[in-house]
Formats: sequence, C-alpha cells, structure tokens
Amino acid sequence: MEASEEQKYQVRKLEMSDKAKGFIELLQQLSVCDSVSDKEFQDRFRDLTSLGDDHVIAVIEDHVSGKIIATGSVFIEKKFLRNCGKVGHIEDVVVDSSARGKQLGKKIINFLTDHARSMGCYKVILDCSLDNKLFYEKCGFKQKEIHMNPVTRRLQNPVKFSPQPHFIH
Ligand SMILES: CC(C)(COP(=O)(O)OP(=O)(O)OC[C@H]1O[C@@H](n2cnc3c(N)ncnc32)[C@H](O)[C@@H]1OP(=O)(O)O)[C@@H](O)C(=O)NCCC(=O)NCCS
Repeated sequence: MEASEEQKYQVRKLEMSDKAKGFIELLQQLSVCDSVSDKEFQDRFRDLTSLGDDHVIAVIEDHVSGKIIATGSVFIEKKFLRNCGKVGHIEDVVVDSSARGKQLGKKIINFLTDHARSMGCYKVILDCSLDNKLFYEKCGFKQKEIHMNPVTRRLQNPVKFSPQPHFIH
C-alpha cells in the first residue's frame, strides 16, 4: 500500500547523519552557507544537542530520494520579564525548491510553534521578507512592529537600512 503524503513527510529532529543527506545544500538555498566540513558539522551538532529542547532543528526527509527537503529551527529564550517567561524564536526556514507548495513549510512551522508552546513560551516570533508575509500569515502569524538592524558602514558594499516585518504567533 502506498504511503499517504502525511506519512511520507514526517517532521523529525536533525540527526548527525543528515549532513550526508543534503542538509547543508538545503540551507544554501536560504542564505550564504559555505561548505562545512564533517568535523565542523559534528562539533556544531554536539554544541546544539547539548542545549537539549532549548534549541531544536526540525527537518523533513524525502524517503524516496533520501534527501532532506525542508528545515527550520527554534531557539527558546529565557527571560526575566513576564515572570521569568520564555520566547520562541523561529529561524532558518527553507523548503527545497523542487518540493515547495506541498504544505511542507507549514508542517515545519507547526512543529516548531508546537515545540515552543510545549516549552511554555508565551509567544513565538520571527522576521521575514515581505515576499513571505502571506506564507507566515497562513501559518497563523500576524505582523507586529518592525525589526531593526544595526547600520553597517562598508564603503565597498554599502548596506542600506531596510526595516523587515516582524511576526508573532
Ligand atoms: C517560504 C517557504 C518556506 C514556503 O514553503 P512551502 O513548503 O512552499 O509553503 P507551503 O506549501 O507550506 O505553503 C503554505 C501556504 O502558504 C502559501 N505560500 C507559501 N509561500 C508563499 C509565498 N511566498 N507567498 C504567498 N503565499 C505563500 C501557500 O500557497 C500555502 O497556502 P494554502 O495553505 O492556502 O494552500 C519556501 O517557499 C522557501 O523555502 N522559500 C525560500 C527560502 C525562504 O524564503 N525562507 C523563509 C525565510 S524567512
């Protein structure tokens, strides 16, 4: 019997063996991510794993191709505000270009927000480009305020200040 889409695309936590399954190449579709050696990957994986549930990287593996085709991460910030409350920060969400439009991005976001809520976060936030505003709205986020970056002075390559939308769940 053929597996349903739901069974085919399960979200799970990143594993050490995922480097060989194209995890770094997937991140390269999101932003600059130079080649990472096996040793660098193992060291960073161990650092992150030592944070336990306070830092989770979620992935979806395509069991036909054996490739990682979607990922996203959540970091749990511990505060003094709000009675020593916690805030979940979602980062590094990307779906392989050949697998977009199949609800995989939404699955990753749902997994990350559920994790943050289960950790007791009173809010879950993220920043994104305006191009992805509708995607995050469909995932239950709403735009709130703007995100500010420090102005960097680089004569060769000046970076213009551009406020980004800031989303809350
Ligand atoms: C943005 C991204 C993660 C969306 O992943 P995806 O798997 O294609 O999205 P989904 O299939 O889960 O889409 C969920 C819903 O959002 C909509 N949607 C997805 N991307 C959208 C976009 N850019 N603009 C408008 N709507 C969008 C889908 O149509 C779908 O709507 P529906 O539920 O009514 O059918 C993916 O396009 C991507 O990896 N882009 C490049 C990297 C990137 O920009 N990452 C975000 C960093 S903040």
